[in-house]
Amino acid sequence: MINQMMTVVQKRTIAKDTVEMVLQGSTISFVEPGQFVHIRIGTGFSHMLRRPISIANVDGQEQTITVIFKVIGQGTEELQNVSIGSSLDVLLGCGTSYPVQGLELRRALLIGGGIGVPPLYYLAKELRKKGVQVTSILGFQSKENVFYEEEFKNLGACHIVTDDGSYGWHGNVNTVIDSEQIPFDYFFSCGPLGMLRAVSTKLIGQPGYISIEERMGCGIGACYACVVPAKDGKGFRKICKDGPVFPAGEVVL
Ligand code: FES
Repeated sequence: MINQMMTVVQKRTIAKDTVEMVLQGSTISFVEPGQFVHIRIGTGFSHMLRRPISIANVDGQEQTITVIFKVIGQGTEELQNVSIGSSLDVLLGCGTSYPVQGLELRRALLIGGGIGVPPLYYLAKELRKKGVQVTSILGFQSKENVFYEEEFKNLGACHIVTDDGSYGWHGNVNTVIDSEQIPFDYFFSCGPLGMLRAVSTKLIGQPGYISIEERMGCGIGACYACVVPAKDGKGFRKICKDGPVFPAGEVVL
């Protein structure tokens, strides 16, 4: 993990309350899929804590990372309002990553929900570089929340599903898993706890990795807001330090 000042070089709204921001720094190419950045927002006491934000892409040539976040409160509102050209204090390379290099696989199934979708895009790109066939299932609340459909379609088959049926499949990610019976060697999932629980139950016994991003506080192992019990009964795991990526079945969701 390293700390550096990064410049905001691009910013746009890509779906309802969802912002994509490109940050340029000096050393970014070590950042792996699944890791997150920890961005300091403001200087007042109420914002002393940094915000953990998902990484959707890393461009080693441009020395940029693309982050995507949902505007859900004062901190993320403030981040949304940061001007292009401003500097942000960023901790890079936080948490564990999806073990792309260490796995032997030909077919990957990526299952994302809402703001859990961005890390899967960087993962999908890295998997494609290895020649892995990628199929994605991306769940959103509604049509207005959908983002990155084209980006994922450029990397392989992509199924969009919405809770209210206003776009794509009607239902949740398990609706598509049940119906399509997509063959895969490993699955990789990121999203809200309820979705991860449902996916893990559905795909129990299958090799895969999940990433939990929902319950983070300080993001650096200091506040214990993010602990989850280990499934083997041997203590707890901190999502921000031992995760956010865990082998499927390692923690109680
Ligand atoms: Fe504070 Fe993990 S978020 S210990």
